[in-house]
Amino acid sequence: MTKIRSVVLGCGSYLPGQVVTNAQLAARIDTSDEWIVQRTGIRERHIAAEGEFTSHLAIKAAQAALSDAGVDAQSIELIVLATSTPDNTFPATAVTVQNGLGIHHGAAFDLQAVCSGFVFALATADNFLRSGAYKRALVIGAETFSRILDWNDRGTCVLFGDGAGAVVLEAQEQAGKTADRGVLTTHLRSDGRHKAKLFVDGGPSSTQTVGHLRMEGREVFKHAVGMITDVIVDAFEATGLNADSIDWFVPHQANKRIIDASAHKLHIAPQKVVLTVDRHGNTSAASIPLALSVARKDGRIKRGDLVLLEAMGGGFTWGSALVRW
Ligand code: UT7
Repeated sequence: MTKIRSVVLGCGSYLPGQVVTNAQLAARIDTSDEWIVQRTGIRERHIAAEGEFTSHLAIKAAQAALSDAGVDAQSIELIVLATSTPDNTFPATAVTVQNGLGIHHGAAFDLQAVCSGFVFALATADNFLRSGAYKRALVIGAETFSRILDWNDRGTCVLFGDGAGAVVLEAQEQAGKTADRGVLTTHLRSDGRHKAKLFVDGGPSSTQTVGHLRMEGREVFKHAVGMITDVIVDAFEATGLNADSIDWFVPHQANKRIIDASAHKLHIAPQKVVLTVDRHGNTSAASIPLALSVARKDGRIKRGDLVLLEAMGGGFTWGSALVRW
């Protein structure tokens, strides 16, 4: 019996040109390169230029993914764009991206799960493809978090950056074994009891303003490793795979200490961990496809490799995905 699997045909990314180093931040607020590197692993981040919107970053990432996949934009039937920093309250940024790519058929919508957005978007697109509703999809994570930061709050403004990443997925019929290519399993979770630990203090319905990001960093940190490892254990149990089977661990890039502690707890060897937080900072929903793109371009992730993705963020939301590349 054959099954439909969502196979990754290609990936791509885009980072705004402007790079802001820790030293540049330290010249403006009471912080230091030493504190930021020691507590987070971050050295620099990219910041979007004035007039450069989330959709602009997303279109460039999508074009790079389409080119890497070697497919025409017109073959895309579904666009799921994960973002917490849309161009406008509505329409969905995905619709602007769809139009920017010259696509006027199929469906495009945004998905909001903050830093877990890419894993949630991947799982959503995977379910649409496996149901037979669509054949090819673009899954995008794109953010301009610089626009919702309080640049006087040193506890948050040093952590985040802007960027976008995308993957092209295609529904393919195959035996559906764990050795076969595609998204093997996804596991999503959320728990709104934690919503006040990481949130934006504005919105159309509550304040009629955009608002700024607020975070109880220590509280988020305390829950992160446990939540991440829980959903990864779910992925292992669903597939019969384990830490030794993994070729690459591509986690959400929030903090090197969280990534190291999660890999250690799961017995994933450090050399299998893809790390970009040092150069990108936390780009929320964009961080995983940006990291995938880096590891594809430098030749680490190869066809047939088993790639483990995970993310945790505001809500809280958290999730994992196992992908045979
Ligand atoms: O992607 C979504 C998920 N988000 C996360 O995963 C973030 C999770 N949290 C974290 O990564 C960490 O909690 C932070 C990096 C945000 C903070 O690290 P921490 O080790 O938890 O530090 P802390 O918040 O406990 O602060 C320690 C000290 C405080 O000073 P006192 O009270 O001990 O005197 C802060 O005021 O560090 C101070 N501090 C800073 N100092 C220099 C906070 N921010 C800064 C800063 N520069 N930028």
